[in-house]
Amino acid sequence: MSADQIPLPPPYRIKVVEPIAFLSPSARRDAIEAAGYNPFNLRSDQITVDLLSDSGTGATSSAQEAAAAQGDESYAGARSWFRFREEAADLTGYPYLLPVHQGRAGERVLFSSLLKPGQICVSNTHFDTTHANVEIAGGTPVDLPVAEAFDLDSTEPFKGNIDLVRLEEALAGPADVGLVLMTITNNGLGAQPVSMANLEAVRALCQRYRVPFFLDAARFAENAWLVQQREPGYQGWSPRQIATRAFQLADGCLISLKKDGLTGIGGLIGLRDDALFAQCEANLIATEGFSTYGGLSGRDLERLAVGLREVVDPLYLSSRAAQTARFARMIKDAGASIVEPAGIHALYLNAGRLLPHLSPSEFPGHSLGCQMYLDGGIRSAELGSLYLGELDESYRVVKPAPFELVRLAIPRRVYTMEHFEYVAAVLGGIAKDPERIRGYRITSAPALLRHFKVRLAPL
Ligand code: F0G
Repeated sequence: MSADQIPLPPPYRIKVVEPIAFLSPSARRDAIEAAGYNPFNLRSDQITVDLLSDSGTGATSSAQEAAAAQGDESYAGARSWFRFREEAADLTGYPYLLPVHQGRAGERVLFSSLLKPGQICVSNTHFDTTHANVEIAGGTPVDLPVAEAFDLDSTEPFKGNIDLVRLEEALAGPADVGLVLMTITNNGLGAQPVSMANLEAVRALCQRYRVPFFLDAARFAENAWLVQQREPGYQGWSPRQIATRAFQLADGCLISLKKDGLTGIGGLIGLRDDALFAQCEANLIATEGFSTYGGLSGRDLERLAVGLREVVDPLYLSSRAAQTARFARMIKDAGASIVEPAGIHALYLNAGRLLPHLSPSEFPGHSLGCQMYLDGGIRSAELGSLYLGELDESYRVVKPAPFELVRLAIPRRVYTMEHFEYVAAVLGGIAKDPERIRGYRITSAPALLRHFKVRLAPL
């Protein structure tokens, strides 16, 4: 192998570390039982490898922490705001920017100003808080992903795209479309990217039907990387140029900066329309904070300004994508299957296939997630009938989710290959003898946002 073919290691080394817990099998059994078999109820010091979310869980860099020391905490007009605004404006090109403390705050502020009650919001797939905030604003969320997204084994490169034929049907009426929102990458459907061709076609349709077009760009840099790797015509572009082009196509954006902002907290609304900006700004000041901090500290804004540069570094993105790809190969070698092709921020295990002896009403995704905790202290998130299925009053599944998945989200710059080898080994142990895994039943569940507070018991 010549030197330029040798895969590069991550472009950073570790300076500060945090201990993780290794509980005994009996302590894990006690912990998950006390948690009502709901991983959201576990304490982080009961977990060995935490793959619950890639949101706010990344490691910051020495440059980010150095910048944070310069944070200006002035109530209005802080230097840190102007530094952040300059970076965000350079990246996105939007003339109007508002800071928010996280993505869902931006959703609430934007939708309450933009959506009229009775209107629909069309998306490739709404994230769960986005879905909820459309409804809170009196709108109806409608998801129109491409058909390939429903073939979990298909290796089509852009399974995050929206179905353009169905989008045009929706725009043509009779429903009143208030907004088209493209989620890049598509977190609700396997972390699949959206192509630039699809975004351009959405823009053209939205212009023809005079409907605002927004991006939910939580993973804008990872989408840009996958475009550069997979979409003809973009090989000569930098990830930053691709991201900027994507923002340019839309009328505005919502970004949860807890992902590709490389920070623990933060969010952003980007707009072109001055009247909409004025409305959002008034709402922001009343509910989030003055428009030069929006619920963030000056130190957060400084970390974000640096994070927005670091995240589009091709060396960083290539190493992160390679880490996920290697993790995907290890999982498949261990005998489990995932939603293909592997994206970047998470892998989605096909629990329905691994545990065919469990019916959707026995929650196979949840069973797999619990077993990974019991066998290895690994925390994950179910994306199956527990989260998305329809239940009757006695918590019986009346309409299962289309798939029984478990998301293994990958925090940025946090775990090493040894952690992923460990997770794959634990999964390998499960895949060798899947029949031993039992299902679960719900013992109590709230009416709203069930997965956060549900309690279960083994069958
Ligand atoms: N949009 C997308 C695509 C997301 O993935 C998230 C959060 C949000 C909006 C909301 O942002 O959390 O900052 O309020 N996703 C996290 C996850 C929670 O684990 O996927 P937030």
